[in-house]
Amino acid sequence: MPCVVVVGVQWGDEGKGKVVDLLAEEADVIVRFQGGSNAGHTLVVGGEKFIFHLIPSGILRPNKRCVIGNGVVVDPEVLLEEIRSLKERGYLQDDSQLLVSEAAQVVMPYHKAIDKGREGRSSKPLGTTGRGIGPAYEDKVSRVGIRVGDLLHEEVLRGKLERALEEKNPYLVHVLGQRGLDLDPLLEEMLRYGESLRPYIVNTSCFLAEEIARGRRVLFEGAQGALLDVDHGTYPYVTSSNTVAGNACCGAGIGPTQIDFVLGVVKAYTTRVGGGPFPTELRDGTGDYLRERGGEYGATTGRPRRCGWFDAVAVRHAIRVNGTGGLALTKLDTLTGLDRLRICTAYRLHGELIEEFPSGAELLERCEPVYEEVEGWKEELTGRRSLLELPAAARNYVERLQELLGVPFYLISVGAEREETFFLKDPFSEGR
Ligand code: IMP
Repeated sequence: MPCVVVVGVQWGDEGKGKVVDLLAEEADVIVRFQGGSNAGHTLVVGGEKFIFHLIPSGILRPNKRCVIGNGVVVDPEVLLEEIRSLKERGYLQDDSQLLVSEAAQVVMPYHKAIDKGREGRSSKPLGTTGRGIGPAYEDKVSRVGIRVGDLLHEEVLRGKLERALEEKNPYLVHVLGQRGLDLDPLLEEMLRYGESLRPYIVNTSCFLAEEIARGRRVLFEGAQGALLDVDHGTYPYVTSSNTVAGNACCGAGIGPTQIDFVLGVVKAYTTRVGGGPFPTELRDGTGDYLRERGGEYGATTGRPRRCGWFDAVAVRHAIRVNGTGGLALTKLDTLTGLDRLRICTAYRLHGELIEEFPSGAELLERCEPVYEEVEGWKEELTGRRSLLELPAAARNYVERLQELLGVPFYLISVGAEREETFFLKDPFSEGR
């Protein structure tokens, strides 16, 4: 029975939230498997805007189960605020709709303080979201992290926090020049969060195994994008998790043989937030035009996103490392009004033409984009509901992208609302 993974194939902010929300109509279970509240998935439903940082975007559909898997780093304060706000707006009335893995790591206040403290002092900051993501994953891998299940056991939690503060406080005070944290108020705060989260905390790997065995459709919702993957992205200007589809298995506790299909989400141009190389970046009026028309401001931090032309070299790399079988093309409507469009088809590095994305930021910084130019269009696209309804230049652009990427488009989005989308193929119809 189909398990579909949806991942970003650029630097995040491709519109995964909208795509997951649409596919969720056909799914039974929606799962987040990595990242944390650095993600900001924006949805517009019936003119109402929702931004999710931790809860899977499927939560707006009734009768769907939403899972926060073990691979996620959970900031309990953010999660509880999301739960509260959803309930207030008439969603998540049934607590069994949300399941949080007992093995997910907890983002602690000291993780956020360390993240912000390091960025503030660095001469070459990474431009993180300041949500404590890197420090939380460091602790997980160092085997000193606090897990969601620990929030339910006072004695276990006290012991772990004591050990953590022995290391964190001297680091915060003497290295980062920040204030240290006191054990008792921190313990109390975390136990309170644990109590509030108790109805949701379970073994989500067992839950997913049962659902898959029953033939339920499971949708895995990636956060960030392949170019921010800690192994396959523009290291060190990346996030601290594996954002690629393979991590859906580790981050949710299922096996690789259970994944049927990988859908990549790709924006019709490129954006990036934070530092790091970006070969097709436009630091001119066209970049500003894309930012304003596309509302390209970070959903988590409000930072203006850097904007640029479509980079087929980067996306081909992302398609390969994800095993992407199909793509969802988003924000095609943002390109309306530009006379000519450019697509990066290769890079020039040290005088040579290269078509492979270099590994690491240092080489990518030296790459010059090689462009092909195509005609733009003036017509608004928001009312269009099929490829045939698109102006000829927009159709040519889509077809050229598909040719360069070698993977078919399954759906195309021409506006923020659910209706402003058309499907060319159904990802859930794909077999193994
Ligand atoms: P961190 O994930 O907060 O550590 O930030 C590391 C890098 O990933 C920074 O460049 C962030 O701007 C970027 N980043 C993290 N999450 C997202 C996201 O959801 N969308 C886009 N960029 C992100």
